[in-house]
Order: sequence, then structure tokens, then C-alpha cells
Amino acid sequence: MQQYLKELRILGKTTGFVPTMGALHPGHLSLIKQAREGNDVAICSIFVNPTQFTDAADLEKYPRPIADDIQKLEGAGCDILFNPPVNQMYADNEQWHLNIGELEYLLEGKFRPGHYQGVTQVVYKMFNIIMPDRAYFGQKDYQQVLVVRKMVELLNMPVTLVMCPIEREPDGLAMSSRNIHLSADDRKHALVLSKALNITKENFDSNYIEKIQEYAIQMITHEPGVQLEYFEIVDGNTLHEADKDTQNIVALVAARVGNTRLIDNVIIR
Ligand code: PAF
Repeated sequence: MQQYLKELRILGKTTGFVPTMGALHPGHLSLIKQAREGNDVAICSIFVNPTQFTDAADLEKYPRPIADDIQKLEGAGCDILFNPPVNQMYADNEQWHLNIGELEYLLEGKFRPGHYQGVTQVVYKMFNIIMPDRAYFGQKDYQQVLVVRKMVELLNMPVTLVMCPIEREPDGLAMSSRNIHLSADDRKHALVLSKALNITKENFDSNYIEKIQEYAIQMITHEPGVQLEYFEIVDGNTLHEADKDTQNIVALVAARVGNTRLIDNVIIR
């Protein structure tokens, strides 16, 4: 992979990279499309990264439909797939991690301690191998974008990050590889997340933040089968509590629907 990409760079080709864990859905394919449009060569990685899972059962059951994924990548015009085995990405018992500061401990970091350390570890390795000009991440994991952005800043990595909008099903459910675990009933109940986010955005200007947040929390906690982990309205750069004067504001939610953990968010401004 490194040799091949070195040759492309010598030819002056630009590269756009989309890191994924597979089980590709239209959200991923929209990232590939942007990578193709913005660069000479589009590269996708499929690697279910063990170090970012905080629950062994979750890692075990993570979907791995590689033949389907390859077909989708071909259909989307992706040029290169990087699909390394775990023992090529990690030596036995690797113990290091990066420390990018408080961003990795807030929100998701509280509920999935160590998760973003696993993410920065693998994205750091991927960026070192691929050395992309641009890397494309979905807004659905908004905090991940901030975490990777921080890593790139702190380590002066020569890559431009592009955050691409959330792709949604027609009824509003954010697309996710985990949605296949939702039963028909879970699927209906899960809609409360995007509904609560939309209501928050629509009513933001005319209400106190605490009031809208409380309303959204009530909506979600009253939905059967849904266990709310957090619903926060925060500064879109720091993830600290927002007030009405904050310039960039984002509402973020995480909840368990049946046995599946879902996240979603909306940029308010
Ligand atoms: O968002 C994901 O799918 C993963 O966290 C990533 C960025 C591919 C790292 O494993």
C-alpha cells in the first residue's frame, strides 16, 4: 500500500481517504463520492478496529459483509480498498495511545472510556500509511471529527479533514452500520432521536436552552424501548455547555434502542 501510494504521489496524484469499519451504507458512499470529486484517487479502508471497542460482545457482533462492501465500493467508483488484517495493523499487545486532552473524555468519552484513544490510535496509523491529502469523516460521529481534528493539529499532520453531512433514511433515522441490529419495533422507537433533534433546532431561537433540552430529554425518556444516555446542547468546538451567545452550537444525543446503541446530532448554528 505504501509503495503503491508513493508512486502515485510521485506522479502528482492527490488522494482522498475515507476510513471505515465496513458494513457500508449510503452515508459512507457519499463520503467516497466526495473523495472522488475532490481528488485524483479515492481510497477507502475497511478495518474493524479492535482497540476502539469498549465491549467485547459489540466487537464480536460488528457486521462484516466484506463481499457486499467490495461491490458497493466498485459501484461508487472507489479506486483503492485498504483492508488489512488485525495483525498487520497491530503488534501483539500494543500499549501506547495518544493523549489529545479533554475532548476524548467528554460525552461519548464518558460512556465509552478509551473509545477515542482507540480511534486516534488507528487513524494515526492509517494516516501514516496512506498519507492522504484529504480525509473524509461523517458528521454523525461529530465528536470523532473534533477528536481527529485535534490530533491533526497537535501532531501537525499534513492532511485536510472534511466533515460530510449526515445521510438519513426518508423518515429521519440517521444511517448507521448498527441499524441492522434494530428490530422493527426498535426501528420505530429510534425515530424519537432525530425528531427530538429537529424540534430542538426549530425551537432554539425562541426558547431558553435549558427548556428545549429538558423538552427533548422528556420526549426521549418517554419513548418505550429507548434508554437515553445523554442529550446535550454544546459549543460545537469545545463540547462545553453552550449559551445563546455561543457561535457554533450542536445538539448531540446517544441512546440505547433495544440492544443497539445509537448516536445522532444536529448542527444548530
Ligand atoms: O467512524 C468509524 O467508522 C471509525 O471510528 C474509524 C474512523 C474508521 C476508525 O476506526
